[in-house]
Amino acid sequence: MAVRPRIQNLQASLIAEVAVLGMGDPEVLPLWFGEGDLPTPRFITEAASRALEAGETFYTFERGIPPLRQALADYETGLHARPVAPERVVITNSGMQAIMLTVQALVDPGDNILVVSPVWPNVRAAIEIMGGEPREVALARREDGGFLLDLDALDRARDGRTRAIFLNSPSNPTGWVMSRAEGEALLAFARQHGLYLIADEVYARVVYDGTVAPSLLDLAEPDDLVVVVNSFSKAWAMTGWRLGWLVGPPEIVEVMGKLIQYNISGAPTFIQHAAVTAVREGEEFARSMAERYRAGRTLVLDALRGLNRVQVAPPDGAFYAFIKVDGMTDSLAFAKEILAKTKVGLAPGAAFGLGGEGHLRLCFAASRDRLAPALERLIPILR
Ligand SMILES: Cc1ncc(COP(=O)(O)O)c(C=O)c1O
Repeated sequence: MAVRPRIQNLQASLIAEVAVLGMGDPEVLPLWFGEGDLPTPRFITEAASRALEAGETFYTFERGIPPLRQALADYETGLHARPVAPERVVITNSGMQAIMLTVQALVDPGDNILVVSPVWPNVRAAIEIMGGEPREVALARREDGGFLLDLDALDRARDGRTRAIFLNSPSNPTGWVMSRAEGEALLAFARQHGLYLIADEVYARVVYDGTVAPSLLDLAEPDDLVVVVNSFSKAWAMTGWRLGWLVGPPEIVEVMGKLIQYNISGAPTFIQHAAVTAVREGEEFARSMAERYRAGRTLVLDALRGLNRVQVAPPDGAFYAFIKVDGMTDSLAFAKEILAKTKVGLAPGAAFGLGGEGHLRLCFAASRDRLAPALERLIPILR
């Protein structure tokens, strides 16, 4: 007996492969992971303490406590053009788990999911764990270096075993934000072919034009085969709490009770109570985070502009600079070299699949105190 070959062969994250070399070194300025350096705000941590004191420490509803499902339904309804009912909302242990549960619900061994790429590596892994094939379809490149959804390429990649299309907008790592017109065309395409859309909108509130990114929730009917994944991690600085949610059609929401029961039996009760406070009282904080990221974005783009060796398209959303480095063919080796020589931690573009090689990803969610010295150290090696 042995571990399944598919699991044995899962690629460890290339981001982690760089990070293990420098984690714990106090001189290292880490910009490799997708999080900032601000702790969760007090009004949320205090709500968690109150919930603990109040004895919210027991098992609870598989799909989440009713006040949180309601709070999120109100939140999504307030942000988007169409109402979202609480019955469509399912609470999960993180955005990652919302993706995993959706893949569990949809993929049989041999099925494939079209994954709009470059893409966060965990998505490919989730599909592989279930015995499916993540079939990457690259975003097209605009002349100015920005990105575009390529429906023709999706159509060419599709076959009889295609179950779904996965896309992440605002995108990690590219910063691409799906336009409303792209969303409409994509939804029409998915309807025509009977495919699910899995829309990862964890960076929905991190946009540099407006306060929320265009969403499939603006466009889809409640029974469209659309699953929108979201998370508390980015908008409310809660990465370590491991809490997310999804909005899905009835057939998905119905099976989620079972899948959650057999995976983890529900998100922690007191954390869900704190999350109600995050959603109900956190609008100002979410907006202040977006402003903070905007400052980081300006700092990074200004510093990198004018370096002959690099090109970076200003991201429309999320908090990453996806830096194209001329002449670099091995981003993993170069990220390791940068770490060794400058003690700045970047993610290698190869981690993000097709089209990722040749790039480095820098997370600018950090404060100026971390970003400014990191940029100073990086400039000579990227010049
Ligand atoms: C594109 C994308 N989706 C989903 C997630 C998952 O977030 P979490 O599991 O912290 O909710 C991340 C985290 O970095 C991400 O970058």
